[in-house]
Amino acid sequence: MHPLLEKEHQQFFDLLDALDQCISKGNSANQVHKYLSDFVALAEVHFKNEEAVMETYKYTEVIEHKKEHADLLEQLFILKSKLDSGQTPFGKDYMHLLRNWFERHLFDADNRLDKFLYQVNTNSNKTAG
Ligand SMILES: [Fe+2]
Ligand SMILES: [Fe+2]
Repeated sequence: MHPLLEKEHQQFFDLLDALDQCISKGNSANQVHKYLSDFVALAEVHFKNEEAVMETYKYTEVIEHKKEHADLLEQLFILKSKLDSGQTPFGKDYMHLLRNWFERHLFDADNRLDKFLYQVNTNSNKTAG
């Protein structure tokens, strides 16, 4: 995997774990809000970075992959705006939803991109060597 993308994926999991801990321990809404804001900010940056990599390597599934990113961001914005307006406390059910969205994307779409990049890398090593 691309080192930057891999690092950002790890940051997603770290934030998910931090949120999980926060909710289990019944920490303040402010703390939950902070982690969720960080999560949204990371998603925005990461999706842009990943899309740039896809463009660079002329990834064949770029349109479908971008669409998934756009859908994820939309869901995140809806969730965050609900929290901002104090409509919903962020509980275990939302946590579950958030983790599911991301794990599904990472283990499916991102995993396919990973395999593609690995292939590109292997081929370019062959030509170089
Ligand atoms: Fe992705
Ligand atoms: Fe990703």
